[in-house]
Amino acid sequence: MTGWNASEIPDQSGRTAVVTGANSGIGLVTARELARRGARVILACRDATRGKAAEERVRAAAPGADVQFAPLDLADLSSVRAFAADLPGDRLDLLINNAGVMALPQRRTVDGFEMQFGTNHLGHFALTGLLLPRLREAGHGARVVTVSSGLHVLGTVDPRDLNMEHRYRRWIAYGRSKSANLLFTHELAQRLTAEGSRVVAVAAHPGYAATNLQTAGVRMEGREVAERIVELGNRLFAQSPENGALPTLYAATSQDVRQDDYFGPRFEFRSRTPTRRAVRAPWTRNDRASAGLWAASERLTGVTYTWV
Ligand SMILES: NC(=O)c1ccc[n+]([C@@H]2O[C@H](COP(=O)([O-])OP(=O)(O)OC[C@H]3O[C@@H](n4cnc5c(N)ncnc54)[C@H](OP(=O)(O)O)[C@@H]3O)[C@@H](O)[C@H]2O)c1
Repeated sequence: MTGWNASEIPDQSGRTAVVTGANSGIGLVTARELARRGARVILACRDATRGKAAEERVRAAAPGADVQFAPLDLADLSSVRAFAADLPGDRLDLLINNAGVMALPQRRTVDGFEMQFGTNHLGHFALTGLLLPRLREAGHGARVVTVSSGLHVLGTVDPRDLNMEHRYRRWIAYGRSKSANLLFTHELAQRLTAEGSRVVAVAAHPGYAATNLQTAGVRMEGREVAERIVELGNRLFAQSPENGALPTLYAATSQDVRQDDYFGPRFEFRSRTPTRRAVRAPWTRNDRASAGLWAASERLTGVTYTWV
């Protein structure tokens, strides 16, 4: 996989992909590259103006591609349910759980969950459960790719305080939500294996890529100096969203992908860095923790997975 790049994505004709958070950063590049290789791509975005603008940009980069914006707010379970219910077609080949928020001031989702846990994990947990029957329909090559982060090492989920009500710390909350992404992939992979499914659950992370992720939190609080500093850091140290999307694209399309794999760049920073199997904290493969998170996520979202 050393040096693997987007030109090596196999032909995706006849395949359908849903990419969450496809209007910006890594999600936009992921959607664009899949469309360029012939996939039908649904851009699942929370804001219609940004979603439609992304649709135009992807179409311009992939003329003739079948690309469509569809509204999805992961911080609102009724929106997740509506998205799944309205999704056209009865099969889905790729679900790219990419959308995310990072280090926000304390906020709650519509359903009352801590915003980072609610958006990054619970929203995607519910979405995947609702779309799993369609992924099964696609059969061979169907994948759930969940985008985590190297910063998952900041902490694992606390089963007694999933919404971090005790003492909110924005970076720890982000780390926990990204550990939740990996625990989710771990548990989903095991359950898919147990049912003999051909659907593969895999995770990826982009390293440090210059996107809107780093500025969204400080902008929300109107911290302009902090915003300038973050932008400077992005210019100096981050890699491009194009490079940041490569681990996701590899996880989504390469033949060399197994259940519960986790891909990332070799180095976190600026230069073009080859995709490889990434290091992950041992707690992200803890069966007890993943099963516990799964049960809690079903209870909190009201989405119960069915197994065949
Ligand atoms: N960039 C990095 O260095 C880095 C490092 C490690 C991991 N990651 C992960 O990479 C993924 C993509 O992030 P990015 O860097 O590309 O950041 P980004 O440019 O900020 O993109 C994030 C996307 O998520 C969407 N989103 C946020 N909240 C949402 C919600 N409630 N419902 C639906 N969509 C929502 C955003 O929509 P709006 O435009 O409407 O806000 C945007 O499209 C995230 O999971 C992030 O944790 C990024």
